[in-house]
Amino acid sequence: MKKPIIKSELHRQIKERHDDRRDRIQNDLQKYGGEVLDSEEMKEAFQQTHHKWSTVGEHTVRVAATSVLICYVLRKMKINVNLPAVVVGSLCHDLGILGRNEKYASAKECSREHPRESLEVAREIVDEMPEKAEDIIERHMWPLGKSEAPNSLEGVIVSVADKYNAVKDIVKGSEINNTGVKNYLKAEKQKIKDRMG
Ligand SMILES: [Fe+2]
Ligand SMILES: [Fe+2]
Repeated sequence: MKKPIIKSELHRQIKERHDDRRDRIQNDLQKYGGEVLDSEEMKEAFQQTHHKWSTVGEHTVRVAATSVLICYVLRKMKINVNLPAVVVGSLCHDLGILGRNEKYASAKECSREHPRESLEVAREIVDEMPEKAEDIIERHMWPLGKSEAPNSLEGVIVSVADKYNAVKDIVKGSEINNTGVKNYLKAEKQKIKDRMG
């Protein structure tokens, strides 16, 4: 009879797999998107808030990591995907948001106009734009605003990863906020208790 794997061994194996996967994603992001990751724009992206609780930079890296992960799964299923296009497209998709307050008159305008601006920024940073990357950036907001629908599998991947992470950012942020409120209430209750002796 097969010996049952003890819990700690199972945890170790899961952790190892996660570490391997994280390293693989990091390597691919650096390999295909190194010039974007090392750019001044990306540094700036980590200074600008996005989706209330996050920064453009954090959101960008999350979207890129999710997109790359989807590519791995599809490749396992023998579905061919252009990984360099997904990496460059996802890393650049929101760079047009930088300097939002100076560039756009309203959130609506930012939402509508930033994909085109992201493309301009991407063209300045990336020497050789992978095929499909420009369309990925320009169409990533679909179905919001006036964005056209993605015209490639790679475009769908980034657009879906973007929505998934936007929702996660907002939900996670509200959790942090709730915890903040809970901690505040707890501290206030304690103060009252202390006052009453
Ligand atoms: Fe966007
Ligand atoms: Fe985004």
